[in-house]
Amino acid sequence: MVLELIEKRFSVRKFKDKKVEDEKIKSILNAGRLAPSWMNSQPWHFIVVDNQDKKDLLKEMCIGQKHVSQASHVIIMVADSLAFNRARFGKILKEGGKDELYIDMVFKNQTLNPALLGDSTLLLRLMEQTTYALAYMTLEAQNQGLGCCVVGAMMNELTCADINFIKIIKEQFQLPEEYFITAVLTVGYIDDEIKIPRKLRKEFDEVVSLNSFGEKYN
Ligand SMILES: Cc1cc2nc3c(=O)[nH]c(=O)nc-3n(C[C@H](O)[C@H](O)[C@H](O)COP(=O)(O)O)c2cc1C
Repeated sequence: MVLELIEKRFSVRKFKDKKVEDEKIKSILNAGRLAPSWMNSQPWHFIVVDNQDKKDLLKEMCIGQKHVSQASHVIIMVADSLAFNRARFGKILKEGGKDELYIDMVFKNQTLNPALLGDSTLLLRLMEQTTYALAYMTLEAQNQGLGCCVVGAMMNELTCADINFIKIIKEQFQLPEEYFITAVLTVGYIDDEIKIPRKLRKEFDEVVSLNSFGEKYN
């Protein structure tokens, strides 16, 4: 069933001029919210955008990609760079039933706490977590009979030299300083003219091994 959804999903970049119902958008958001994350840290926030001016601004942020302003909704995936701080991560661990001794150990152990290894490791872990949420959302969009496209080609603190543009984005979406955008997801009803593309993927044997790299699995 899930594999069927995965097989049928493709990135949609042209949408009907029809608003997606809130119930469907909420299902997609719940799929992201319920995704797995590093020690259940859930270092994400999702901003749903249906305002046309804001979608136009996001199109600019996504280097002019038309489907961003054309989509019924755009979901901004935001990562919390303080997610692994004592206050936020400690609270989650506590809620998960961990005792103070265990929590202290996590805050001293660099394998368990990405924040102890510097900004690049922290960033990698944040990208990793938000990617899970995005992947779940794409499948729920498919399940709801909608089309969507993950957009990673966009300007954020990591990819844009123009600090003023980043400031405008942060102001427009009232993003707290410690939050940054990792990707956006465009969502809408698939335009009738769209033809289902052939799935271009590497062959099974090229990407799968048994026991050792390069050893064929059956
Ligand atoms: C992290 C990530 C970033 C992506 N960024 C963009 C993007 O900026 N614009 C776009 O049109 N598609 C983007 N895509 C969609 C890919 O191009 C697409 O998934 C890939 O070509 C495979 O095609 P399919 O999704 O139709 O199977 C992105 C996908 C991922 C996973």
